[in-house]
Amino acid sequence: MPSLLTDPFLQLPTANSVNVVWFTEFPGENHWVLYGQKLENKVTANTTQLTRVREDSESKLEPKYEQLTQRDIWRHEATVTGLNYPQRISYQVVSLQEGETVSSQQFTLTGKPQPGTPLKILLTSDHQLMPMTAANLQKVAETIDRVDAVFLAGDLVNIPDRASEWFDDSRGGAFFPSLQGKAHYQLEKDGVTTTYKGGEIIQYAPLFPAIGNHEVMGRYSTEKPLGRQYNDAVPRNKSLIENTSDLTTIKNNSYNSDTYEEIFSLPGSESEEKPYYAVTFGDIRLVSLYITNIWRTPELNRRNLPARYAESPTDFNHPERWGYGQHIFEPIAKGRKQYQWLESELQSDEFQQAKYKIVMFHHPPHTLGGNIVPPYTSPQQTIQRDSNNEIQAITYEYPKENDYIIRDLIPLLETAEVQFVYYGHSHLWNRFQSDSGMHFLESSNVGNSYGAHTSDNPRTVPPNSPDNVAVGNPNGLEPIMPNIDPLQDETGQPLSYIASNDITVFSVLDTEQGIVSSYRFDTRQPDSEVIKFDEFRLGR
Ligand SMILES: [Fe+2]
Repeated sequence: MPSLLTDPFLQLPTANSVNVVWFTEFPGENHWVLYGQKLENKVTANTTQLTRVREDSESKLEPKYEQLTQRDIWRHEATVTGLNYPQRISYQVVSLQEGETVSSQQFTLTGKPQPGTPLKILLTSDHQLMPMTAANLQKVAETIDRVDAVFLAGDLVNIPDRASEWFDDSRGGAFFPSLQGKAHYQLEKDGVTTTYKGGEIIQYAPLFPAIGNHEVMGRYSTEKPLGRQYNDAVPRNKSLIENTSDLTTIKNNSYNSDTYEEIFSLPGSESEEKPYYAVTFGDIRLVSLYITNIWRTPELNRRNLPARYAESPTDFNHPERWGYGQHIFEPIAKGRKQYQWLESELQSDEFQQAKYKIVMFHHPPHTLGGNIVPPYTSPQQTIQRDSNNEIQAITYEYPKENDYIIRDLIPLLETAEVQFVYYGHSHLWNRFQSDSGMHFLESSNVGNSYGAHTSDNPRTVPPNSPDNVAVGNPNGLEPIMPNIDPLQDETGQPLSYIASNDITVFSVLDTEQGIVSSYRFDTRQPDSEVIKFDEFRLGR
């Protein structure tokens, strides 16, 4: 008996249509969506096969994969038309395999909302199959009547080419099951185990992601483990290939986000490799940018990986092993292609007339988290040689005054009167506001936390390096104290952030009054209520 690998989810809504996407482990003879009040209409799906998804011995699957193995997964996408917001109609997907049909349950869908419609938008990020992700999404579904859309600020899984992380990781917390209420993640706290199923969210609400560092694979290999390939990205101008314009060859020798782009239908990205986009949804103009760099360890020789501030001495004479520091995948510096695209987007009628101007990307402009260091700029390499021309050191510096987000992007967004900048990456909750009133929110304490770097917990930075700030938000703004019910430290002082591996956080934008509310749930007390601890209103 065939089964579907996922439930359906919604993509690319327009005024009168929406795309329905699902996955199977068989090509099938035919795939279609039934829709309408009595499922009286039928539309056939277009089927493609994912090209890069694989498993390896680190995959959490039973039985285990002994070696790197291609995983055969097919994606089906059909456009349901004739929609009329706010009317919701039923739908169900059907796949036909060797004469047998397999169907999903029935869900409902609708087209894109008109301006003026009150909407609830889930703001989430950094799922990565972390321990609290399924609990978080389950509490979202229990707390919010209907989520109208999901804005996901990157880092959906850990290794994007490992199929099981998207679909069927045996720990029960893969990406799709968690966002479709089909997870079965067992979370143990203080000797009590609770099984969380996630939330039935994206069957009903379109998902708009931004690309994070965990959506980007490094150099392609048919032998190396997937984790190794993930970490093996090099800048495209250092990829040691010459004289080719073949994009696949370039990607295979540098980095690519093909799996991410094959799984999602991103607005406006049909024709070129461009995982940044803008979309209008009700009163919102959402601009989703490609702002992320590779993460490298601050310590030399940790896990045999290339490091953030230096190359390992054992690699000095092997440039093919160099990591080139925390290089940026898609430039955002002034004058570069993405920046120019953003300039024209910010001047468009769609942007300027929108009631809520929101920009989402992965890398934090303001945070107490760890990943704001080093500054977001291209690494400057220095090679020191001795009198025999032998390499003595290869180091990387990241001049803070060249931080492209702070130097180039934020002034552009301020001028365009963006009200709200939403991001992730450091796995904590904190928010900020600029002098002009632009709001900044990192709501990435979803599945776990990597901590807040206050004075008792400084970041790991090189000595005597003013470019790398160990404590607080390097970019100046002070975190804003939650205004309803902040957590407290051991001495009873209120905390301006949440950085917890026990308490999970989610945030929701309600467009009726432009209010962003943040909620926390303590997984040590599975029967406890979700607590709203902060809210702020978009405006300048
Ligand atoms: Fe990240």
